[in-house]
Amino acid sequence: MRILGIETSCDETAVSIIEATGKWNVDFEYRILGNALLSQTVHSHYGGVFPSLARREHELNLIPLLRKALGEAGMLETGSSSTETIGDILNRENDLRPRALEFLAAHKQPDIDAIAVTHGPGLEPALWVGVNFARALATAWNLPTVPVNHMEGHLILSALAGHNEKYQVSSDKYQTNNNIQFPLLALLISGGHTELVLSPEWMQYELIGQTRDDAVGEAFDKVARMLDLPYPGGPEMDKLAKRARAEGVQSPEQLPRPMIDSDDYDFSFSGLKTAVKRLIEAQPALTDEIRMGIAREFEEACADVLVTKTLHALEEHNVESLVVGGGVSANLYIRGRLAESIKEYGLSTRLLVPPRELATDNALMIVLAGYFRALRKEFAEPETIRANGNLKLR
Ligand code: KG4
Ligand code: ZN
Repeated sequence: MRILGIETSCDETAVSIIEATGKWNVDFEYRILGNALLSQTVHSHYGGVFPSLARREHELNLIPLLRKALGEAGMLETGSSSTETIGDILNRENDLRPRALEFLAAHKQPDIDAIAVTHGPGLEPALWVGVNFARALATAWNLPTVPVNHMEGHLILSALAGHNEKYQVSSDKYQTNNNIQFPLLALLISGGHTELVLSPEWMQYELIGQTRDDAVGEAFDKVARMLDLPYPGGPEMDKLAKRARAEGVQSPEQLPRPMIDSDDYDFSFSGLKTAVKRLIEAQPALTDEIRMGIAREFEEACADVLVTKTLHALEEHNVESLVVGGGVSANLYIRGRLAESIKEYGLSTRLLVPPRELATDNALMIVLAGYFRALRKEFAEPETIRANGNLKLR
């Protein structure tokens, strides 16, 4: 099966095409035919993602990315596709509509079997662009459509392309893990989510814990902003904290480890963020050394809480595989701490972390989850697909 996937839930616009065979538990194999992604840079001035700006960027980027992905797949052929009713489907996408119509009128239908698209969770204005674009392509090419949950995308990609390595080296080949053992626990950590999800079997989920306020990635971004680091702050904090550890620089004060001893799997990061604010205000000047120390202490506080809760869940549920996904799973320190703790506790759990460049949002994760859903024939009529900012895993 050849599937084209579209991701527009936040500030990455992405299109991927894969060819996949087998089932999720037997002989699964895939090949990336085309993979195109643009990270929106407009938001860096604001220190956060602006939904209306994200929406417009998605509208401008989708056709160039589709062209690139199809080109890589050798499927960009001149000719023409049907454009009937496409203008109606894209009637609110004023920047995308003319570009899509022009593209379809000038290109043949590619050799693709289905279209997968993120329909949530995420920023609704951003999600709608991808959803309506998928509906337009599915209608023009008369293809089945698979709506995909973004968090399931992170989970499935980390499970399939993840490695049990402390420091993942980038590679352009993503080997496939077959024979993944269940129960599986997913630690999903991103800009919008912090969740522990127990999975007894492929594509069955039980949410056992989540953040009560900010997501951990959001806290990283906000603290980075307080330390005058550019957006997105997570990767910058990662580097600064690493330097602090290498140079033995400490924070002037310890930060709290919110909810670390609570009797559940929930998290809270907003108090930690406030504690950083107070700590900064108490300093006579925000020197480079203090910034480094705070980045380190903040990262260690987050890691302590994430690792403690995750390890409890591994033990309580006799988990065979721990899958870590979402943008924050790119964090080297957090990956390392998880790997060390599994060893320290003497657990046999297999740790699967994604290649770093696939930890943050991309369309490969959407097309992989889409393939699994397509195998179960979970198609939706294009006109029935809705963007849902609060979509839950089921
Ligand atoms: O999964 P993702 O790309 O988007 C959402 O679905 O939210 O996650 C983005 C988040 C941002 O908050 C970003 O700062 C954080 O992941 N992030 C990191 C690192 N790389 C990205 N946080 C900590 N350390 C990193 N290396
Ligand atoms: Zn994400």
